[in-house]
Amino acid sequence: MKPTDTQFMQFPRDFLWGAATSAYQIEGAADIDGRGPSIWDTFSRTPGKTRNGETGDIACEHYFRYENDIKLMSDLGLSGYRFSLSWSRVQPDGKGTWNEKGWDFYDRLVDELLEHGIRPFATLFHWDLPQTLQQEGGLTNRVVADYFANYAAQAVHRLGDRLASLATLNEPWCSAVLGHEQGKFAPGLRDTKLAYQAAHTLLLMHGKAIQAMRGTLASLPLGIVLNQAPIHTATNSEADRQQAAIDYALFVQWYMDPIFNGCYPTLGLETLGKNAPHYNENDFGLISQPIDFLGINYYTRGWTSTSKPPIQPPAPYGVNDMGWETYPEGLTELLFELQAKYKLPPIYITENGMAVADQCIDGRVTDTPRINFVQHHLQALNHAMQRGLDVRGYFYWSLFDNYEWDSGYDKRFGLIHVDYTTQQRTLKDSALWYRDFIAKARLGIPLET
Ligand code: FCB
Repeated sequence: MKPTDTQFMQFPRDFLWGAATSAYQIEGAADIDGRGPSIWDTFSRTPGKTRNGETGDIACEHYFRYENDIKLMSDLGLSGYRFSLSWSRVQPDGKGTWNEKGWDFYDRLVDELLEHGIRPFATLFHWDLPQTLQQEGGLTNRVVADYFANYAAQAVHRLGDRLASLATLNEPWCSAVLGHEQGKFAPGLRDTKLAYQAAHTLLLMHGKAIQAMRGTLASLPLGIVLNQAPIHTATNSEADRQQAAIDYALFVQWYMDPIFNGCYPTLGLETLGKNAPHYNENDFGLISQPIDFLGINYYTRGWTSTSKPPIQPPAPYGVNDMGWETYPEGLTELLFELQAKYKLPPIYITENGMAVADQCIDGRVTDTPRINFVQHHLQALNHAMQRGLDVRGYFYWSLFDNYEWDSGYDKRFGLIHVDYTTQQRTLKDSALWYRDFIAKARLGIPLET
C-alpha cells in the first residue's frame, strides 16, 4: 500500500478520537498556587539549554484558560483528551506534603472534560521530575520508584473514579537517553551508564506504580506510553543490518521486553557491556505485571547507516519542520512487528503529528501538509486494524501549538494555532478537517481519502 493511493477507511464507530498535550508544555503558571520546580524548570532556565532560552513559565496559560480550551475540544468533537499531571504541582518535592491547590486544578479539569462528554486519559509522568528528587540523584536513584508509586496511588485515589485510563510514563527512552546520555533534555547529563540506570528506574517506577494503583482501584485501565519505530537500513550491508538490530534492541526492545517478557534483550545487554544497569532479578516481576493498554507514539521510522558520511533516508514524502521524515507505512510495519513478537494488550496511538511552520493570516492557517500527514497515518493505521491489530483510539499530537522542549516555541505541532503574544487560539484548517472526519467516522461512513 502506498499512502497516496485513494482508498476507503472504516473505523469502528466507538473508536476514540482525541488529541494530546503534556503539563509542562501547555500549563504555564510555573510558580503559581504552590507548584514546586521540576527538572524542566531548572534546565530551561539554564542559559544555552533551549532555543533562545525559552521556558514553559507561561506556555499556553492552559492553567488559567482550561475552560475555553475544553470548549474548543468540544467544538472539534473530540471523544478523548490525553494530558499529563505535573507531579511537582500536586507534590512540590515529589515526596511528603500534597499541594491541595494543585489537585484542585486537575479535579476541575477532569470534571470540565466530563461535562463536555470528553473522556480524560491521564499520564502521570511526562519527563518533569520534581527538582527536589534530582538533588537525590533523580532517575538514577531507585528510591524514586517508591516516591512515584506513592504519587500514583494518590492520583488514583483523587481522580481515578473519573478517568478513562491512567498511563504511568510517557516515552521513558526520551527521559533516559535524551536526558542522561545526549544532554539534550533535562537533566542535561551525558553519561551512558547513568542513562541506562535511569531507564531501569523508569521501568521500576512503572512496575511499582502499577502495583500501587491496582491496589487502590482495580477497575481503572492502566498502561504505559512508549515511542517506537521500525528501524530501516540505508544499505543491505552486514554492518548496517547488525547496527539496525542493536538500534532496535536499545530503542524498542529495551522497554518492551521487560514489560512483556520480564527480561532485557540479550543483544542490548551485550552491546552495553559495562554500561548495563544494576538491577535485581526480582525487579522484573514488578515491571512485567499485566497492563490494560499500550500507548504507542509514532512520528517517523528509524534509520541506520554505518557509511561515512551516513547515507540519509530518501524521504519520498518529505520531512517536517523538525527535520523528521514523514513515513506513514512505518506505523503499519511497527504494529505488525510488535504483534508478531509480543502478546499485546489493546493499543492506543497516543501521539502522532507533525511540526509545520504555520502562519496565521487573516484568522486562517492553511496547513494542508498536516491534513495529508494525518490522513496518510490514519490509512496506515486502518490497514493494520483490518489485519487484526486491536487499536482502540488515536490521539493527534498536539491539541495546540505549545512549548516543544529544547526547540522552545518555534515548532508548531498543533491543530489549534496559538499566538503567544495574545494567547489567541485559532482553529487551523487541519482542526476543521479533523472535526469533519470525526463526525463522519462516528456515523460509520466509509471515509475516502
Ligand atoms: C514526543 C513527546 C511530546 C512532543 C512530541 C513532538 O516525543 O512526547 O511531548 O514533544 O514528541
